Amino acid sequence: AVKPSVKIVEVGPRDGLQNEKQPISVDTKVGLVERLVAAGVTHIEAASFVSPKWVPQMAGSAEVMARVPKVPGVHYSALVPNLQGLESALAAGCEEVAVFAAASETFSQRNINCSIRESLERFRSVVDTARAQGVRVRGYVSCVLGCPFEGAIDPEQVAGVAVALAEMGCGEISLGDTIGRGTPDGARRMLEATARRLGIERLAGHYHDTWGMAVANIAASLEMGVRTFDSSVSGLGGCPYAPGATGNVATEDAVYLLHGMGYDTGIDLGKLAEAGRYIGEALGRPTSSRVAKALAAS
Ligand code: HMG
Ligand code: MG
Repeated sequence: AVKPSVKIVEVGPRDGLQNEKQPISVDTKVGLVERLVAAGVTHIEAASFVSPKWVPQMAGSAEVMARVPKVPGVHYSALVPNLQGLESALAAGCEEVAVFAAASETFSQRNINCSIRESLERFRSVVDTARAQGVRVRGYVSCVLGCPFEGAIDPEQVAGVAVALAEMGCGEISLGDTIGRGTPDGARRMLEATARRLGIERLAGHYHDTWGMAVANIAASLEMGVRTFDSSVSGLGGCPYAPGATGNVATEDAVYLLHGMGYDTGIDLGKLAEAGRYIGEALGRPTSSRVAKALAAS
């Protein structure tokens, strides 16, 4: 029988590296992407065209995009907060971009310096301009299972922001547990509220692993019908504007779970772990992936 497949969106080069304090060279960023591609990863968020004053680490994004391997079937995307970012992404040849809104008013202010409503207005022209050029747009909603400043977030608030992004033309909607505090019950309630209005097919789970719940949240989301997950090799990262938040679920952990549950990801776990080792050595840091640690010890 053909295995059902799950799409992994590797966000390590962006969500992972954006949070690093030490400067990371373009060579290292490209080296990471090359190894991810060699492992069979087909969707990679490789860059972020945000203000370099806000996130200095992402400053070399145009150069990264110019140098990542162009391979049929491999898709790259980049984060853009406004029209200025979109112009840079288009100039860099991006075929997909992502806008990012929040389900929390305070987080929206801290992360992108405007209200949720203002951000949605801003994104409308970003999405229109991108789509007019044939560029796909993904929409993120942050703080879907809690906000570092406001605490609990109403699932209906998440659904409302997700619908607004979808209505303006975002295809895939990625639901971010930015601070990684959510548990499966909360994830189910949030997905139910959002899927009721958008359908489950276009939703992606973006779970940070700060509290160790990400793999459980993926399993719960799979049961609800979600088939796209964002993850970060070696468990890199966090958001610089979400105090205390650590990395996304490690791609190694997500892939091990998915393969164990009978899903196909197209990713070679051994080669993926090599990509994780590469970036760990470059950063001088042990992996956060439990699976990568277990593989290294076996
Ligand atoms: P602002 O200061 O209000 O913007 O920032 P502004 O329009 O007043 O511009 C200020 C300066 O920034 C100007 O330069 C602009 O040119 C420049 P100056 O005249 O002072 O020299 N600027 C830019 N430069 C390059 N590229 C741009 C750009 N835009 C303005 N695109 C802004 C507003 C949105 C720009 C800022 O707040 C920002 O860049 N925020 C991004 C923060 C960020 O990247 N956070 C992490 C990503 S989100 C995340 O990780 C969550 C996610 O993973 C999902 C989840 O986990 O929940 C996606
Ligand atoms: Mg994130």
